[in-house]
Amino acid sequence: MEKSGSKRVVITGVSGYLASWVLKYFLESDQNFEIRGTVRDSTNVAKVNPLREAIGADFDCVELVSADITDKKAIDKAVEGCHYVIHTASPVLERAPKDPELLYKPAVEGTQAVLEACRKHKVERLVVTSSLITIVDYDKLEDEDTVTEKDWLESFDPNSPYPESKLRAEKAVWKFLEELPEEEKFDILTLHPGFILGPLLFKNNSVSPNFGAKVMQGKMPGIPDIHLLMVDVRDIAMAHLLAVTSGAKTGRYIVNEDHHPGISIGEIFYEEFGKYGYKPNRKKLKHCLVKLAACCIKDVRPVLKYWGKKVSADHSKSVKELGMKYRTQRETIVDMGYSLIEHGMVKDRTKKKKS
Ligand SMILES: NC(=O)c1ccc[n+]([C@@H]2O[C@H](COP(=O)([O-])OP(=O)(O)OC[C@H]3O[C@@H](n4cnc5c(N)ncnc54)[C@H](OP(=O)(O)O)[C@@H]3O)[C@@H](O)[C@H]2O)c1
Repeated sequence: MEKSGSKRVVITGVSGYLASWVLKYFLESDQNFEIRGTVRDSTNVAKVNPLREAIGADFDCVELVSADITDKKAIDKAVEGCHYVIHTASPVLERAPKDPELLYKPAVEGTQAVLEACRKHKVERLVVTSSLITIVDYDKLEDEDTVTEKDWLESFDPNSPYPESKLRAEKAVWKFLEELPEEEKFDILTLHPGFILGPLLFKNNSVSPNFGAKVMQGKMPGIPDIHLLMVDVRDIAMAHLLAVTSGAKTGRYIVNEDHHPGISIGEIFYEEFGKYGYKPNRKKLKHCLVKLAACCIKDVRPVLKYWGKKVSADHSKSVKELGMKYRTQRETIVDMGYSLIEHGMVKDRTKKKKS
């Protein structure tokens, strides 16, 4: 039964790295939300229990439902009765799959299922986790260019279907809204984070925590000498809550702290954790080596586009309209390091050194 004055919100893919933080912030909000979370299979204890433990007693207030995002009926049911929808679920894979449809289908059909369900159930506001990848086009950008919400990815790389999956999904959003009769239109906000890093709520094998764990343990072959746009997982999670509570208007929102040299991640890990004996990756990979590797490993090829380009993303709209505040990169990486240790993704050497 609905609590009086409460608003019901559904969060898709709630066991994900980012979505678990989104859930935490909605639960901690003073706005009396009733929360429904979707996972592929709510009986999968391996997925659900770590989230339950991380959230604690508040998890009993969460209605957990099973929904593959490509299953229109399940999504329809999940959205029924909700005022707000947060759609974060979308495949994020470490390696490009042989068949790009494995990315396109859930990204696009999942988003379409969510859009249709929002329309049918007269949802007030939909927040979609997009990416800076749908805005930044390294093929046409020059060093020191700044992108804004007006920019779009236009060039595609068959070696890297993930950006296209996010772009196709986002385009489906704006096309749907444009074609919707005026009286049926509802608020839609797309959020555009760069590379998401920062602490994890539980041991999590998704791409960002795995990357952090590898760099911290020096398990990467090196770090390409490129600049990356980055944001703290807690900040982009908070942006999802603010996208609902701030009353910000329909549109795209860049949610990103800044750009930083890739190597700075290893350097920060070293500054904080070197004293315990950790040997994070701090060696830059040379362009010629990456070029060579790209001949055989297609996942490496997109890295070459970033080379020599410091591209900034203007986040002023998120500050002004969502009320965003950003953590520093140092705070993000240091907190990530401690949480990788806490959740057993990186061996704990800190205690040994102290005693
Ligand atoms: N990580 C980044 O650097 C980054 C940057 C920009 C944007 N984003 C976006 O942020 C969102 C969350 O990503 P993340 O980093 O938190 O990755 P993640 O931990 O892998 O989360 C992705 C979530 O989507 C779910 N999902 C994927 N396909 C699904 C399907 N067919 N049916 C139901 N659920 C499905 C996953 O469920 P399973 O665990 O069951 O697969 C998981 O809960 C994604 O939309 C991603 O594109 C991420």
